[in-house]
Parts: sequence; C-alpha cells; structure tokens
Amino acid sequence: MKVSAACVVEYDSIDDLYVLYGKGGQDVTISDLPKPVLHIGEGSNLLFTGDFPGTLLHSGIRFIRQVFPGSADASGLTADRESQERGASVFYEVGAGVPMDEFCAWAAAKDLWGPENLSHIPGEAGASAVQNVGAYGVEAKDIIYSVNCFDTVLCRTVSFRSEECGYGYRESLFKTDRKGRYIITSVVFRLSEFSGPVLGYGHLKSAVEAAAGQGGVTPSLVRDTIIGIRREKLPDVSELGSAGSFFKNPVVPRSAYEKVLSIARLEHGEGCNVPHFEAGSGFVKIPAAWLIEQCGWKGYSEGNAGVYSRQPLVIVNLTGNASPDEIISLENRIMASVKEKFDILLHPEVEHI
Ligand code: EPU
Repeated sequence: MKVSAACVVEYDSIDDLYVLYGKGGQDVTISDLPKPVLHIGEGSNLLFTGDFPGTLLHSGIRFIRQVFPGSADASGLTADRESQERGASVFYEVGAGVPMDEFCAWAAAKDLWGPENLSHIPGEAGASAVQNVGAYGVEAKDIIYSVNCFDTVLCRTVSFRSEECGYGYRESLFKTDRKGRYIITSVVFRLSEFSGPVLGYGHLKSAVEAAAGQGGVTPSLVRDTIIGIRREKLPDVSELGSAGSFFKNPVVPRSAYEKVLSIARLEHGEGCNVPHFEAGSGFVKIPAAWLIEQCGWKGYSEGNAGVYSRQPLVIVNLTGNASPDEIISLENRIMASVKEKFDILLHPEVEHI
C-alpha cells in the first residue's frame, strides 16, 4: 500500500544544509517546512506506519574521492602517510547519498579490499554508518575510519572517528542519544590493496574457493560470490517488497540460550542443537531466523503479507499492497510466538515511523 509524506527535500551539498539550518533571510529554512523532520537514506530499512505529516530530508551528496592523511580535509585524518602510500590502508571519502552497493562495486573494480562482503546490501553510505550494516562477517564499522556530519544544533560540520561512534550490532550513536542531531554528509572508509578476504562466515570460504577454481581470490570474486548467496537467500526488492531482516538476532545471556536448547531438545530429541554464536561476556547470539522457523512461520502467508520461504527473518509484501497494519500484525504475532515458545523477546531491526 502506498503512503505519502507531506514534503520531501533533497539537498546536494553541505552548503545547502547551512542554508536550510541557518538564519534564513530570503531562503526557505527548516523552520518553514512541515514537522516533524526526518532524515532518511533510501528508506530500505523503514516501515512507514501511515502517511507522514512532516518533511523527509534526503542526501543527494554523491562522490567518491581518495583522501590523504595530513591534507586539510574535513575528516581530519591522521593515519600515517607511509602506510597509505604502500597501499596497506587507503582512505576514500564517500558522499552519504552514494548507494552502498555502488561503492562496493567501485572498490571491487579497483581491486581494493574492505567492503566486498557488504555487497548488495540496500541503502546508502550515510545510512550504513547509522545502522552499522553488516553481512557475512563484516560490519560497516570494520571499514569506517570516520564519519563526517552536519550538526543541526550548532549549525556546523563535525567529524567523528569510528571509535567515537558507539558502534555495536546494528547500533550507533546516530541511532541513540544523538538521533536526529547529526546529518551524515560523508563517510571515510579504510580500504586496502593487500589485506585479503574475510571468509570466516558460514560456508563462504568453500563457496569462494569453488568459484576461484585455479585462479586467485580477488575482491570482485568475493563480491560476486556474496551476491550469488544473497540472491539465493533474500528476495529481490524489485520483485518482492521487503526491508531485509525484519528482526535483529537476539543477543541473550547464556542461561537463556540453554533454556532454548532444552526446549528444542524436549521437542526434537537430545541430538538437537541450536545454532548460536559466542557474543562475549557470557552472551550468546541466536539466529532469529531459526527461532522464527521453529515457531512455524517460514513460508507463512496471510492476505498481502508473509514470511519469506527461504529466510524467515524477512517479512515480505507479497502483493505490493500490504498495509502497514498487516505487516505490524504479522510482526507482533511472530514476536509473541517466539516469546511464548522460547521466552525470548525479538527486537525489530526495521525502524517504525
Ligand atoms: N536459519 C534458519 N532458517 C533459515 C535461515 C537461517 O534456521 O531459513 C539460521 C541458520 O542457523 C543460519 C542462521 O540462521 O545459519 C543465520 O542465517 P543467515 O546466514 O541467513 O544470517 P542471518 O543471521 O539470518 C544476518 C543479517 C543479514 C545478513 C546475514 C548474512 C541480521 C539481522 N541480519 O542474517 O542482514 O545478510 O546475516 O551475514 O543480523 C539485513 O540486515 O537486512 C540482512 C539481510
């Protein structure tokens, strides 16, 4: 079902933001526009629960350029020049409005390592730094060096080093206490000519090796393999609407995981195992896809909404006409059944507006 916003503004530069958040004069400023104001990327991780009465802001800042330590750019890079010259670390600043996959393709074509595992993730570079997107063993934070922002409160630019961004699993300071204050204008990524592939996730290594045959493993080969895996598992949004993973994988104390294990063993026998990943400090991450599948939702459909048959973490808009209420009702029922069966509360990854 279509929903609409009262106003949509795309800006092209930091100068536009100074005008928008400045004193105004003859110019239209943010105070003249319908409220609330929400900055979005491609919107691929948002669920609009109805028409939006305010203004959607979107970045049209699109460029990719190499930046060097010591040069007088806004990001204030301080990494050592020698390392950059050797190609061990090379830094590229990417405008917030550049589609992340465009950057991944660009880097792979230049034989640069870093973002290849993030190939084919929907969304833009700016949003990747907000959401700390991740896939196949790499999170955006692993390759982000710094994030350049426009501070809407102080009306000036500011740069955060990756360590200052409060990154965690699908978390960052841009989603928490300072949500809405900073508009990301560009992201500086640290890439490398040499670092090599990250293949520890699932069966990625064997898939890449099979694709490489006798040849070498290149960023493009890893990218193509990842795209192949994603196409197999995840719906193509141009054919079937979805927001990717609808829920986060729950990170729970070990005792909660052991409870899940005992419930699964009661049902399926002592040989049954629950997939899980150590998350440090006595915590364990359990795939939400597994929990949802165990509750019988995989491939479920009702009306216009459903649960994807190959990856139950994904809620799909089967007909393109699913209403926000249909999606939310399905979301709530999935959450309730996982809570009832395993005593685990799922949290949506998709942001509800
Ligand atoms: N699983 C099932 N049944 C299924 C599918 C998966 O039980 O039908 C279990 C299996 O145990 C499998 C495990 O879930 O080993 C993990 O599955 P998968 O590798 O597909 O990853 P995921 O944890 O479900 C996360 C990200 C994805 C990302 C993949 C690959 C989140 C919320 N999602 O999914 O990101 O592509 O890993 O790295 O962390 C997204 O954020 O939109 C997204 C697609």
